[in-house]
Amino acid sequence: MTATAYQQAMREFLSERPEWQAYLPAISLSAEPSAVENPLSTGPVDEIVKHLPDVADLGGADTQHLVRLALAASGALRWFSTYRADDIRVGRGKVARTAVATLAGPGGVFSARHAMSGLFFVREGVEYAAHSHEADEIYVLLAGSGHFWREDLGWYIARPGDVMENASWIQHAMMSAEQPLLIAWAHVGEGVGDRALLHSDDGSLPDGGPTAKEGA
Ligand SMILES: [Fe+2]
Repeated sequence: MTATAYQQAMREFLSERPEWQAYLPAISLSAEPSAVENPLSTGPVDEIVKHLPDVADLGGADTQHLVRLALAASGALRWFSTYRADDIRVGRGKVARTAVATLAGPGGVFSARHAMSGLFFVREGVEYAAHSHEADEIYVLLAGSGHFWREDLGWYIARPGDVMENASWIQHAMMSAEQPLLIAWAHVGEGVGDRALLHSDDGSLPDGGPTAKEGA
C-alpha cells in the first residue's frame, strides 16, 4: 500500500529527530479502517490536487524521498478544504489554492488515538492568515520554500526539511510565494480535530511579512 510506504518513511524521519518524538504517535501505521468522517472536511478539491505534481522536484536532500512517496500515495487519499469558500478571514487563496489530506486520524487511511497527521498542499501565491488551535502541531516542510509567521518569532523563511512547531493556542500564519509547498502535518494533545480559530477579520497577514505577487 503506497500510503504505508510514505507513513513508514515519515516515522523514520521523525525517529531521527529526538526533539519531535512527542509527535510520533500521530504517524500511525495502524490500518484499522477509520469509520469517522474527518471533522474538518468541507468538500472536494480535485481542481487543486491536480497541480500536486508541481512539487515533485522541490524536495530537499532529506525530504525528496518523502515527496516521491507522498505523490505516489496521493491518489489513495481523500483531499479536502478546511474552510468555507466565502470565509474572507482565512486569507487570500487559502480556500481556492490549498488542499489537506488526513493520513492518520478520523477520516484517514490509518487510525491514531488522540492524534492526527496528514499532508497539506499549498499552491503558489497563497496567504493563510493568523489562526490558532488547542492541539500541538508540527509542520514538516517537504517541498518548496515559503514564508511562515509565529506570534513569538515573527516572519521567517522555511526550507525543505525544516520542522516548525506551533504549540497549543499559539497564533501562526504563512504565505507561499513563487513555489508551491508540500507540508506534512501532525497534531497531538487536547483538541485534535477541532477547527482552528481565525484571528483576522479580513484575511490580512500579520505585519512585517512579504506580500504575495498580484495574480500569482
Ligand atoms: Fe496550525
